[in-house]
Amino acid sequence: MTNTQQPVIPEMSLDRDCTTLSRHVLQQFESFSTEAQDLSAIMNRIALAGKLIARRLSRAGLMANTLGFTGDVNVQGESVKRMDLYANDVFISVFKQSGLVCRLASEEMDNLYYIPENCPIGRYTLLFDPIDGSSNVDINLNVGSIFAIRQQVGNDSEGEGRDLLETNAREQVAAGYILYGPATVLVYTMGKGVHSFFLDPSLGEFILAEENIQIPEKGSIYSTNEGNFWQWEESYRDFTRYVHRHEGYTARYSGALVGDIHRILMQGGVFLYPGTVKKPQGKLRLIYETAPLAFLVEQAGGRATTGEEPILDIIPSELHTRTPLIIGSTENVKLVESFIEDRVRREKETAGSQA
Ligand code: AHG
Ligand code: MN
Ligand code: MN
Repeated sequence: MTNTQQPVIPEMSLDRDCTTLSRHVLQQFESFSTEAQDLSAIMNRIALAGKLIARRLSRAGLMANTLGFTGDVNVQGESVKRMDLYANDVFISVFKQSGLVCRLASEEMDNLYYIPENCPIGRYTLLFDPIDGSSNVDINLNVGSIFAIRQQVGNDSEGEGRDLLETNAREQVAAGYILYGPATVLVYTMGKGVHSFFLDPSLGEFILAEENIQIPEKGSIYSTNEGNFWQWEESYRDFTRYVHRHEGYTARYSGALVGDIHRILMQGGVFLYPGTVKKPQGKLRLIYETAPLAFLVEQAGGRATTGEEPILDIIPSELHTRTPLIIGSTENVKLVESFIEDRVRREKETAGSQA
């Protein structure tokens, strides 16, 4: 090789091997605008939270005071686990002095959490479920974190986050989840497709695995807690009877929404958490559970609804508003909706014949 010749780089698909999350976010914007840099920095901090939580989970059985309950009950009336609290604190601490995020809302906090030093310039709000599926923590099964980023609307001078209660989730700038399984996977969207990254522990970086993920149009999986069958209204029971009596369906339910949705995103099917007698709006919460996942699944070509309206159209009445959820492959979700439509039609006919 002479001095003027360029070294020959072997066919190592450097791009695939080296596309980190922050680089990917910048590429999505095709510019180095302030917005692109802000979003890249925010995603980087979410990734850092994911790495800290993954590390803690991998050692939880070896450390004192890591597993089990704290003894407190959160605003949802659910017993708080030590990992819930740890992960919540991690998300707060990674955004301190970021200058980016002024407000955070989480399942584990009654009200919005303000980081005052960020508020003069931080125009973004982070909505998150620090540990999703926390009943799995103590038995070493998969859990996740869910997140969404929104731009703050107005100056929130009353400090009540009214803008979050006046807008629907179509205002999300980015959304995604981190799945803590055998490997740690981060999946996100900024409204330009859905992309997945695997954490390479030796590099400490999330490395691009798949771009523009498309959910299968139809799949064999149905994922729901059938122990609630007795509490469901009839259309969900009709759907369940249908899949029991037809070939081509298989049940998968892990107790952690993130894991169940990830499987459906990759393999196709439907996840359902309908209203129950005890919880008429279901169990899952809109702004940090169902809305981020709805945005992501729609971006992948799927569908997400309450059974009455798209999840993304809902304006919450409070920070912790719950919604029923039917989400996944378009054909599977439509099948569930067809049972709901049948029930509505039957009720109208009965009402008409009684009039
Ligand atoms: P979280 O741990 O954040 O409270 O969420 C648990 C959710 C969700 O991950 C899961 O799909 C569902 O609750 C499981 O609820 P059931 O035990 O009622 O099936
Ligand atoms: Mn959850
Ligand atoms: Mn949670």
